[in-house]
Amino acid sequence: MNKTEINWQELGFGYIKTDYRYISTWKNGVWDEGELVEDNFLRISEASTGLHYGQQCFEGLKAYRTKDGSIQLFRPDENAKRMQKSCKKIMMPEMPVDKFIDACIQVVKANEHFVPPYGTGASLYLRPFMFGTGHKVGVSPAPEYIFCVFCVPVGAYFKGGMKPVNFITTDYDRAAPMGTGAAKVGGNYAASLQAHQEAVDAGFADCIYLDAATHTKIEEVGAANFFGITKDDVFVTPKSPSILPSITKYSLLYLAKNYMNMKAEERDVEIDNIDEFKEAGACGTAAVITPIGAISHNGIKHVFHSETEVGPVTKKLYDILTGIQLGDIEAPE
Ligand code: COI
Repeated sequence: MNKTEINWQELGFGYIKTDYRYISTWKNGVWDEGELVEDNFLRISEASTGLHYGQQCFEGLKAYRTKDGSIQLFRPDENAKRMQKSCKKIMMPEMPVDKFIDACIQVVKANEHFVPPYGTGASLYLRPFMFGTGHKVGVSPAPEYIFCVFCVPVGAYFKGGMKPVNFITTDYDRAAPMGTGAAKVGGNYAASLQAHQEAVDAGFADCIYLDAATHTKIEEVGAANFFGITKDDVFVTPKSPSILPSITKYSLLYLAKNYMNMKAEERDVEIDNIDEFKEAGACGTAAVITPIGAISHNGIKHVFHSETEVGPVTKKLYDILTGIQLGDIEAPE
């Protein structure tokens, strides 16, 4: 697709073939040099562990066009480190942080004209991913690995962007306490598809996962993390070993404390005490901040600030976060 065919304001969260992607292969204990290629198809063994046993992980990060026309990535080092943790969890070789960041920069530069203009609300989403390949039938780590980064220009993940959407709790579990919930592995997302579809069919944007052991505490909001603002202005986000550690969530914890002078904490969030929050939201690279209008749980609808208007604290957090991402507000050291 030519960039002149893209209506930046209308972009959702979908696939568009961009010009170049990066690919590197791990064989005999080492990563090769890596290169940019135009082909957006991969040729792999039919016996790849990434296809059969879910030996696969991925990342998501964004590049932003600033007011002066330059481009900046938001915290790529954090994505690199998180990918290393995911790799460790499923016995894949780690990608060195420098090589990960270099691959992302190469992809952004090679696809520069796909970075949406400043002021459109859109950005360039980078999708680094790694999986086991080579020939392997038994359940054990693959003999070879492929690491790729492709990119797509994206707009809002949830339709409407910074408009409140409603969620419903689900009885399905996304991840077990000692499982892979904190790793960004594809299996967690496959495990979420049925719950997601049932929530959408029931008229909600997505579902809320509760902790698998007791089903009493909020864990995640679809593929995003949860936060709430208590009536006495504390920023709260759930703490659990089976939650994906969202880089946006940790950025918000920092910004609430240091830019908004709020108390900010990670702690249990009881679903039966959800009315402790005057505002709530979903956060993540894709979701950015999506205000939660209401959560339905056991047939009762709990409305936060409003089902149509964004709450003032959520709006302020959004403005600071996106201000930093777009280079309008100075980033912390
Ligand atoms: C992200 O925010 O980057 C995510 O991982 C969500 C994604 C699965 C769409």
